[in-house]
Amino acid sequence: MKNLIIAPSILAADFANLQNETLMLNSSKAAWIHIDIMDGVFVPNISFGFPVLHAIQKHTSKFLDVHLMIEKPERYLKQFADAGAKLITVHLEACPHIHRTIQEIKDLGCLAGIALNPGTPVSLLKDVINDIDLVLIMSVNPGFGGQKFIPYSVDKVREAKELIQLTGRPIYLEVDGGVSMQNAESLIDAGANVLVAGSFVFSSPNPLETISNLVQLAK
Ligand code: DX5
Ligand code: ZN
Repeated sequence: MKNLIIAPSILAADFANLQNETLMLNSSKAAWIHIDIMDGVFVPNISFGFPVLHAIQKHTSKFLDVHLMIEKPERYLKQFADAGAKLITVHLEACPHIHRTIQEIKDLGCLAGIALNPGTPVSLLKDVINDIDLVLIMSVNPGFGGQKFIPYSVDKVREAKELIQLTGRPIYLEVDGGVSMQNAESLIDAGANVLVAGSFVFSSPNPLETISNLVQLAK
């Protein structure tokens, strides 16, 4: 069954050459583009905001997977939907009223995801799992591209997969941070079906080939 989505993270792209990077991704086998939004508060880094997202949207033919690493994301959901987000993922740690936030994302016509930091247990998703379309397991501490993969993330993916299976619903299981050919297979075996890859794709000599190699890992 071919059920693997590769989502290159635009954070690792050449921002001075964003149009060409976006067109390159259009011609790739990646189904999604992963968009990392950082506010300098929830995470110790600032990435980019709406103008850059609009610029990507203008040129992309891909599904936009928006990962919000921001405090109080409910303030900006509509603007992200208007800027072309098809899936909006918020961090459980940033949302005291996660159920309401999820409903707001869905009311905007977007898929809704919840991300968990490395220190947040999968079990905290139990009450909301039936309401969401995607679980995002962070395999690095969010804030920067190019970090080292945290090995116990594989166990969290397995645990999330079990929780998802109990629902009987098709819920995406995404992994983000330090993903490469070295760990992709074990993540897929554990149940991941969306792999984000930033530096592994964009720092490689041939990003199109790197994406294609990852896509071919589909079982
Ligand atoms: C980290 C971001 C990731 C990052 C992945 O906070 O959420 O999406 O861009 O980059 P790599 O694949 O280089 O770890
Ligand atoms: Zn991300």
